[in-house]
Amino acid sequence: MSAFDFSALEQPAQEIIARYEEKRAAMLPLLWLVQQAQGFVTPEGEAWVSEKLEVAIVHVREVVSFYTLYHTAPRGKQQIQVCNSLPCLLKGSGQVLATLSERLGIQPGQTTSDGKVTLSAVECLCACEMAPMAQVNEQYVGPLDKANLDRLVDQVTQTPDAQASFPEPVLTITQDGPVLSNRFKYVEGCSYSDYLADGGYRAAKKVLTSMKPDQVIETVLQSNLRGLGGAGFPAGRKWGFIPKQSEKPIFLVVNADEGEPGTFKDRYILERDPHALIEGMLIAAYAIGAHKAYVYIRGEYVRSAQRLARALKEAKKEGWLGQKIQGTSFDLEIVIHMGAGAYICGEETALLSSLEGSKGFPKIKPPFPAVEGLFKCPTIVNNVETLACLGPIFREGAPWFAGLGTAKQGGTRLFSVSGHVNRPGLYEAPVGVKLRELIEGDAFGQGVRQGRKLKAVIPGGISAKILKADEVDVAMDFDSLMEAGTMAGSAGVIVM
Ligand code: FES
Repeated sequence: MSAFDFSALEQPAQEIIARYEEKRAAMLPLLWLVQQAQGFVTPEGEAWVSEKLEVAIVHVREVVSFYTLYHTAPRGKQQIQVCNSLPCLLKGSGQVLATLSERLGIQPGQTTSDGKVTLSAVECLCACEMAPMAQVNEQYVGPLDKANLDRLVDQVTQTPDAQASFPEPVLTITQDGPVLSNRFKYVEGCSYSDYLADGGYRAAKKVLTSMKPDQVIETVLQSNLRGLGGAGFPAGRKWGFIPKQSEKPIFLVVNADEGEPGTFKDRYILERDPHALIEGMLIAAYAIGAHKAYVYIRGEYVRSAQRLARALKEAKKEGWLGQKIQGTSFDLEIVIHMGAGAYICGEETALLSSLEGSKGFPKIKPPFPAVEGLFKCPTIVNNVETLACLGPIFREGAPWFAGLGTAKQGGTRLFSVSGHVNRPGLYEAPVGVKLRELIEGDAFGQGVRQGRKLKAVIPGGISAKILKADEVDVAMDFDSLMEAGTMAGSAGVIVM
């Protein structure tokens, strides 16, 4: 086998490195570049990355071995990853995996003898609304009923060299919520012109041209917006921790590493309404004084990253990114950074370690990221859904947003409802909606399927404590669920 010629990767590598304040931070994207070019990360590829980034090869190796999406041996051209987490298990993913094993003649973790198809079992791909599901190369496929399973096997075995394609599943997704979902009707992603026609970027314009950063923070405090990644910390208070006089640059980092089993909300914002995230980022960055922002997207979310990249291009063309945005003195650059398969990176300090080019190990707090975060600079890490609330808050007013929620938590949330319900889906509802309503309501889950009795439910993603059937008359805001001994977490409702 002739040696691989890395010279074609030189220019893209230089462009990637130039996006980061520190060279080493380009570790994950360079490894992606190598894997895409070579099919897997070879020892020569590791050595090349080590040379480009001027880090010891042992560090490159430890990073490659840490992340599940980097491979060190050839894989099939068709890679089938069957989700094996609870919502998919409840809908029969065990049987799906057994059927695929039998029909392909391989066990999970193996590749067919012709080297064409690799089968694996993976943890939640955050598409539990289409359970049981799988990822085939970059595409999500589900629900894997008999017809879809037959189609999948036919495609990967009969035309193993072609890119398999599957129809979009028909799913129940709220499209008329007051805050977050009213542009989810754009299945291909809301364009800049549609976003603008819907009042988009009006809030960012108002903030950038008529408000001081302190006023922006005060408005967010009044809105009672809480961090919707799972922690529930008041967003305005978090921003207030950024030092007023910082000699170092300040960073905004978006946590789009959605990975909590039972949760699939940020993916819909990224895919269908990416300008809502960009507008929220503009407002947040202005409030905290950041001129550089990173969006850390889970490695499996290829389509999310593509849609966001397209929206960023549109926003830049229309003068919403770059220097002197809309004629003001405010500058902002946004960089997309793909993760590579590590659940732990959903935790903010682990995410920052990963973004700096290391294994995704959490850091000990304090210091908190607001004081010493990315590249040891003041950093705010906000979740996608939290930021997407900002446009509506500044368009409609903080009292309006606060009034949608409870006394201590404003607004609505995107509730991911999965498991044994008649109508799994993504539903926007006021944060104080009752859990029973989400399970049984006509506008939501429509009850336990096949007329069975409810046994238990997880209200906030798999990390949340399970509730019994007689404990579901609880409101879904952070405080009520905490009083009930569990947590609102990521609002992933898994019904059993
Ligand atoms: Fe399978 Fe979430 S996608 S459990």
